[in-house]
Amino acid sequence: MSINNIINIKTKTSEVFVGDEVFNVLNEYLRPYRNSKIFILVDENTLKHCVTELITQNKVLHNAEILEIDSGEENKTLDVCYQLWKTLAEYRADRNSLLINLGGGVITDMGGFIASTYKRGIDFINIPTTLLSQIDASVGGKTGVDFEGLKNVIGVFNEAKGVFIYPDFLKTLDKRQMLSGYAEALKHALIKDSKYWKALEKGMLSDSKNWLKLITTSINIKNEIVLNDPFESGERKLLNFGHTIGHAIESYSLLNDAIPLCHGEAVAIGMICESYISRQQQGLSNDELIKICSTINGFYKPYELKNSDFHQLIELMKNDKKNENNGIIFTLLSKIGEADFNQEVEVEVILDALNYYNSLNND
Ligand SMILES: NC(=O)c1ccc[n+]([C@@H]2O[C@H](COP(=O)([O-])OP(=O)(O)OC[C@H]3O[C@@H](n4cnc5c(N)ncnc54)[C@H](O)[C@@H]3O)[C@@H](O)[C@H]2O)c1
Ligand SMILES: [Zn+2]
Repeated sequence: MSINNIINIKTKTSEVFVGDEVFNVLNEYLRPYRNSKIFILVDENTLKHCVTELITQNKVLHNAEILEIDSGEENKTLDVCYQLWKTLAEYRADRNSLLINLGGGVITDMGGFIASTYKRGIDFINIPTTLLSQIDASVGGKTGVDFEGLKNVIGVFNEAKGVFIYPDFLKTLDKRQMLSGYAEALKHALIKDSKYWKALEKGMLSDSKNWLKLITTSINIKNEIVLNDPFESGERKLLNFGHTIGHAIESYSLLNDAIPLCHGEAVAIGMICESYISRQQQGLSNDELIKICSTINGFYKPYELKNSDFHQLIELMKNDKKNENNGIIFTLLSKIGEADFNQEVEVEVILDALNYYNSLNND
């Protein structure tokens, strides 16, 4: 087994492999499953762009069953899970079967959940194909689906048996999706690593030589946090920076927009609003707030948050599963590279933050 040029990161119960030759390691990983039924979960885009490469490089997968779902966050639902559980049962998948999730965060979140619950749990492997899933969603063991318009309400913690990251899959991803993933990298930098922030500010997407660095720096930041607090009783909440408001905006957009915001685009707006709140009550300096906002606004198109819909956004935030008691809880920045979790914020301050975001785009 050649393991040249492969980066290996140990997680709590598993491993992540990153590199151009990552399928050599996958071949070894698949050996115990050569007499098992193997399923590959894809959407129409990973069916088109990724599955052939995967199967050609791994002989064991020649007989795998392909399970295809429609792409998009609107399909990360229990209805689609029902269809997939039904298909697994029709194929007589048993406890020794393996599910390979080949796709973005929707596929790795939902596939992980389906595998974790089918017959009380079958093994699954993540092969993330978007920047967002390579640097964030495929690692850390959070699986699940949306429910009644709210993000990730149904799910379990369960790590993939292995995560295999082939950066070249990003070559077919469009710019909008690359930027969506970049938002999670910006988040990793803002909560933990001011040096990484400086590199990201300059832009790391256009030159594919930077991708490996981007993927491994982000995974290392996330993994270190998750190792300390796998079930999010404390430190893991740092990773929610930008997401209290971001998830509300993402849910709102899914309900109201013909072309909904991507996860990372909503998180980018969330990070601007939550940086504003950080200046108001967590000691973030005005200079750093301005730096954060101009960097983020430099990458993402403006989005109009309608005043008349602010109450709907606040209701969505109140329903966020991260809240405890009655308050709306945030992770806030004290400076670039440092954050505090469990910070309660008054509704008035949140409304100011939404107005602040709009004001930046109307000047
Ligand atoms: N579990 C976690 O820790 C975690 C962390 C962050 C985000 N998430 C979740 O991840 C989801 C977002 O993930 P995403 O941004 O990857 O979205 P996605 O899975 O919807 O993928 C985005 C689009 O890219 C397409 N695509 C995928 N790979 C491609 C490729 N190689 N070439 C061309 N097109 C390709 C997909 O078909 C889709 O249309 C959200 O549901 C979010 O809640 C989970
Ligand atoms: Zn996210």
